[in-house]
Amino acid sequence: MEKYDLIVIGGGPGGYEAAIEAAKVYGNKVAIVEKDHLGGTCLNRGCIPTKTLLHTADALAHIQQHGQEMGILGAAEIACDMAALQGHKTAVVEQLVNGVGSLMKSNKIAVYKGTGQILDAHHVQVNGDEAEPVDLETEHILIATGSVPAVPPIPGAKLAGVVTSDEMLDQAEPLEELVIIGGGVIGMEFAELYSALGTKVTVVEALDRILANMDKELSRSLAMIAKKSKGIDIHTSAMVKEIKEEGGKLIVCYEEKENLQTVTGDKVLLSVGRRANTAGLFAESAAGIAEKILTQRGLVAVDETYETPEPGIYAIGDVIGGIQLAHVATAEGRTAVAHMNGAESEIRMDIIPSCIYTSPEIAGVGLTEAEAKEQEIAVITKKYPMGANGRTLISMEERSFIKLVAEAETHRLLGAQMMCARATDMIAQFAQAIANDLKLEDMAKVIYPHPTYSEGIGELVR
Ligand code: NAI
Repeated sequence: MEKYDLIVIGGGPGGYEAAIEAAKVYGNKVAIVEKDHLGGTCLNRGCIPTKTLLHTADALAHIQQHGQEMGILGAAEIACDMAALQGHKTAVVEQLVNGVGSLMKSNKIAVYKGTGQILDAHHVQVNGDEAEPVDLETEHILIATGSVPAVPPIPGAKLAGVVTSDEMLDQAEPLEELVIIGGGVIGMEFAELYSALGTKVTVVEALDRILANMDKELSRSLAMIAKKSKGIDIHTSAMVKEIKEEGGKLIVCYEEKENLQTVTGDKVLLSVGRRANTAGLFAESAAGIAEKILTQRGLVAVDETYETPEPGIYAIGDVIGGIQLAHVATAEGRTAVAHMNGAESEIRMDIIPSCIYTSPEIAGVGLTEAEAKEQEIAVITKKYPMGANGRTLISMEERSFIKLVAEAETHRLLGAQMMCARATDMIAQFAQAIANDLKLEDMAKVIYPHPTYSEGIGELVR
């Protein structure tokens, strides 16, 4: 039986990056088990394909809206070739997935294609295309099996045409009408995408605001832009009661302010969160381990080093719940691998940037003003409207701004929230500052290049 130092189950950005770290930094003998394509949700069904589609959609909408003013002839008439866009998306995904395969080879990581099942704390079975399952022995196991879209118990949720983001990403035909249930990150990114492609989009959200996990001003501003500039219809505090099919259209029935309303769609996207993927992960012989490490909500329980209650078995990424983001899974994987090798990770797991690829982009890191208040920290806040920023004017962006929260006494940066072009890139500057305990005065020492969006940060911290 082949013996490893580490077997990683799941080849997403949590799993494959952890495998590389273990092989490269600690010289571990590593195997990774993946039943589908390497790259997991992020590369195949999440971050990469959605951002590829959004890139085209945003370019299209921008030129349609501002092209004439920018001096582009025929701007209002340009349109999207959905089939070509799907081809481009597939090419980007394939290139990145192949890249992960090459990284596995160059780091001498054994890749087993099949479903990995835990037999006990030191044995994993791979059920793949081979006639016989393959048993492997290992010192450590890392569960990185991710998550799958949640399907809510709404009558009609299983009708044809009611889909999750997995299927929606392969939509190659233009849609006239789309109803999105859930105004979280997936819901709002797809709303942005389809409204740019000319689809009439309606979002039905159960809570009283979209993007409920983000800073209130960000979510309010995005809702305003989505409604006014993009014609996206957003219904909040709206509970979906039923989905029906009538005459080839889907009808979503929801209750809003005690009134029963309906909206029609060619498709209905369910984006109401994701649930941990542990189906088939434990063999009968590992039932005791499953009982010990699974929580009531079906998540894998871990401590701060990402070790489960079963010594030697670690878990990271969406399967442990918490913040379900690719870069979080990667950081958790590196932390877990350090711990299993007797080292300590230097990564600050408490400073997590989050990014939403709408237009304008949204990004946040650290504390919001409301969170600082809850924690009874005396803070100062600053806000810079990007309307005065040259680069923002040049590229004719929507209303955008940057805000920060700093400790009142020391001016140490505690958090930042941005809604502006390139926010998803610039947020790393704030993360860097928080991780290194920088004060606003430290951030002001830097010369910010001109003309750039980042000058907004310079204006804000001075
Ligand atoms: P989410 O948790 O962000 O949002 C789900 C929304 O659905 C919530 O606002 C919730 O109130 C609402 N909801 C739940 N049940 C409902 C119902 N029956 N009717 C109406 N509304 C209902 O989950 P989402 O958007 O599905 O995303 C899943 C995960 O993927 C998240 O953790 C997200 O952070 C991550 N993700 C991150 C992206 C990024 O970083 N740019 C992009 C896409 C996903």
